[in-house]
Formats: sequence, C-alpha cells, structure tokens
Amino acid sequence: MSSRDNIIPHSHTITLEDRSRKNGYNPMLLWFTGLSGSGKSTLASNLEVYFHKKGYNTYILDGDNVRSGLNKDLDFSEDDRKENIRRIAEVSKLFIDAGIIVLTAFISPFREDRQWAKDLVGEKNFFEIYVDCPLEVCERRDVKGLYKKARSGQIKNFTGINSPFEVPTDADINVDTANLELDECLTQLVQKVEPKIRL
Ligand code: ADX
Repeated sequence: MSSRDNIIPHSHTITLEDRSRKNGYNPMLLWFTGLSGSGKSTLASNLEVYFHKKGYNTYILDGDNVRSGLNKDLDFSEDDRKENIRRIAEVSKLFIDAGIIVLTAFISPFREDRQWAKDLVGEKNFFEIYVDCPLEVCERRDVKGLYKKARSGQIKNFTGINSPFEVPTDADINVDTANLELDECLTQLVQKVEPKIRL
C-alpha cells in the first residue's frame, strides 16, 4: 500500500454548475495545437482580448511561459512533452472548475496526449483548434530563429524538423493561418466557440 492510497478527494459545496450560473457562461478549455511559429499564441492572445472585453473570465497558458515556471524541469523528449501536456491539462481542469475560460497554446504534437487532455476535462468542456500552417511557412517566418538553429543541428528534437507533429484529424476547427488574415481567423474562431460558452 502506498501513501497515495490514503488520499480521499473532497467534494466541495459550491460546484462548477454554481459558478457557471453565477458567471453566466460555461467555462471551457480552448486547446490550440500547431507547429512552433504557426500562430497559436497570437490567436489565443487576440481571442482572449475579445472574450475579456465581453466580460468573460479568461486565462492563457502558453508554452514558452509555462516552460519558464511550472514546467521548467522538462525538456523536449517524448516523455517530457507528454508530462508537459499532462500538467497543463490538470491545471486547465482546475481553472475550468474555477469558472475560467482557459486558452492553451502548446505545440502538443502527439494525438494521444491531446486526447488525454480532452478525456480529462470532458468532451463538452474541450475545444480543439488546429492552427494549420505548413512547416515551410513557419520556417520561412522563423520568428524566434529556432528553425535555423534546428536545421544547423544546434537544437535537437525540434518539432517538424527532427521530431514529429501528428496533425489533428478531428479538431473542432482548423484555422488556416498561412492564408488568412488574423481578423478572418478570429472571426471563424469566435463564430464556433462563442455558442458553446453561452449558457
Ligand atoms: S510541446 O511540444 O511540449 O507542446 P511547447 O509548446 O511546450 O512544446 O513549447 C514549444 C516552444 O518551445 C516553441 O514555440 C519554441 O519556442 C520552444 N522550443 C525550444 N526547443 C524546442 C524543440 N526542440 N521543439 C519545439 N519547440 C522548442
């Protein structure tokens, strides 16, 4: 018997339903997935501004930020990427329970891990957004200069170069950031997401 067998979760009096009624909307996890440089953080950030202005409570969990704090012990091996997503999903679940719309911007390259996150928070609370931008375009933009470093061998396990990205086959929406302007991408997102948040 491990010490973990003695942990008995407590059910609190105020539930998610109580918080949703008080807030006037359903909190959700909006899960952005896509290559580095595809536009996940930009889209998440702009969508957050839109929701914030409309009075919803929101919070962004972003790869580069979370990896500077909570997940700074993790690297980019397969196991650590899995653990990265596991922690993000668990944190998101708590935020949802607190009544907050969570926007996550992580490459999250593995289908199994994204599915794990969806199963954890429940299908009705999860909305998967594939930020669809081909490798050639991300690499051409190379906003952070990381593709160049990866190509020259300075970064190993770089997604798209020498580590896989499993394209979502059943995302709730594919946003074509290679061909559409930011405003158009946002309009498409809002149209699909907002009806799910309304009570
Ligand atoms: S994930 O694969 O574990 O989901 P995450 O979104 O947290 O990745 O972090 C990705 C960010 O870390 C990238 O946008 C990039 O800035 C940086 N990064 C550093 N090394 C790598 C790497 N080997 N592969 C991908 N991204 C990397």
